[in-house]
Amino acid sequence: MNFELLTLDLATAAHEKCDVLLVLLPANFKAGRDPLSSLIGKALKAGDLASKPASLLDIYRPAGLACSRLVLVQLGDAKTSDVGKGVQAAMALIKPTKPKHISVCFAQAPDSQALHVALTTLADASYAYVTTVSKPESRSISHVRVGVPDSAPLVSAFAQTVAAVHGIELAKEWANRPANHATPSHLARAAQALAKAAHIKCKVHDHKDVEKLGMGAFLAVAKGSAEPLKFIELHYKGADKNQPPVVLVGKGITFDSGGISIKPSAEMDEMKYDMCGAASVLGVFKALAELQPAINVVGLIPSCENLPSSRAVKPGDVVTSMSGQTIEVLNTDAEGRLVLCDALTYAERFQPRAVIDIATLTGACVIALGGVRSGFFSADAVMSAAVTKASESSQDLSWPMPLDDDYAEGLKTSFADVANVAGRPGGAITAAKFLQRFTEKYPWGHLDIAGSGWKSGKAKGATGRPVGLLLHYILSMQTNAA
Ligand code: BES
Ligand code: MN
Ligand code: ZN
Repeated sequence: MNFELLTLDLATAAHEKCDVLLVLLPANFKAGRDPLSSLIGKALKAGDLASKPASLLDIYRPAGLACSRLVLVQLGDAKTSDVGKGVQAAMALIKPTKPKHISVCFAQAPDSQALHVALTTLADASYAYVTTVSKPESRSISHVRVGVPDSAPLVSAFAQTVAAVHGIELAKEWANRPANHATPSHLARAAQALAKAAHIKCKVHDHKDVEKLGMGAFLAVAKGSAEPLKFIELHYKGADKNQPPVVLVGKGITFDSGGISIKPSAEMDEMKYDMCGAASVLGVFKALAELQPAINVVGLIPSCENLPSSRAVKPGDVVTSMSGQTIEVLNTDAEGRLVLCDALTYAERFQPRAVIDIATLTGACVIALGGVRSGFFSADAVMSAAVTKASESSQDLSWPMPLDDDYAEGLKTSFADVANVAGRPGGAITAAKFLQRFTEKYPWGHLDIAGSGWKSGKAKGATGRPVGLLLHYILSMQTNAA
């Protein structure tokens, strides 16, 4: 999806030739004398456009305007969340008529946050998955003209948002692909394709390399499937090579059947989404390729399938992780932490400034937070503050979760250094406590996106989260960031 930023006031917006002109209005809108503003002024005065956020007024062939359809969108007090709701409502209204050319006009200058939310919401609402459909209904909107009263102060915020949209869309695309169209090898190729951009390099480790590295936990998960594992390593070098990188680790289980501890069959198809973390890392690299910020970033994706077979890891097996810690695999369905722990140990070699892993890790996190906020775990105050800020500014929301040592009690076992599961209570937290054992050498954070990474049911589909959050976080860590 392409966006173009323009300086447009309501007088010039009247000349926008398009299928739909969306005008986003603040609660305190003051009508001018031009035809469009006076029309808006009349609609507000008559109460035909309500003051409640996300109220709409739909006008066909408005006299004196070049657009075929004008949709007025009430943003209310312009709280950022209301901007998203307004755009979402307007898109739901116009989508059935499949508009091709749309212009979005902000009646009042948006801040960078409102601009980000408006455009990411618009892109999200118009997205259509087409890859494995023979006669797909593709997205009707390909180009969007974005009008603001003065474009100059928004140029860099706009570029960031557009890059975020492209990253989010890449993440959605890979997460939505069925597991037979998104194998570890496919993901590796997608990563290699990203390395065509300036300052990006990609290295793909195969089974032999992973064996040599001693990643016994990762290997144990991959063992049950004939599909070869891949350990994908991406590097973005936007700053001096001596600058320690931010490392992102994405869970890349391309299908999670549970393994020998097999899942119930109802909705098991949804476990194709168990690589949303990996997809978000690819999405972030897509955005980095576009923006070329002054920072170093490493992306690590341990990717394999989790399937039952005669070669599969069994409940009770003890495996040795790359860190040397032995792990009793009490439940083969707690496989995410097994592939992640070895990637987290691998991350040590970069002497990172910060490491964040992103994983559809636990059903317990879905119960705790639903799909609205990702669970965020970190014992590092500096990282927590930066992630919270990025979560707000991107409106890709997260929520702080605890890491008290008492939560690790249930992971104790007589047969290894640690078990891979504790009981059901606090399952998202005990999973995080397991991971934390492998992160002593650097500041670490963990995002559980089991609820936020994709939607189930009728609106089934990947969300592309938390690409927005991660990108805002990374950009805030730039050397020259304000
Ligand atoms: N991929 C799942 C977590 C998941 C569940 C993501 C539902 C999205 C929706 C993970 O590998 C898993 O199976 N976790 C288990 C852990 C349990 C065995 C301790 C779970 O959450 O049930
Ligand atoms: Mn599982
Ligand atoms: Zn899983």
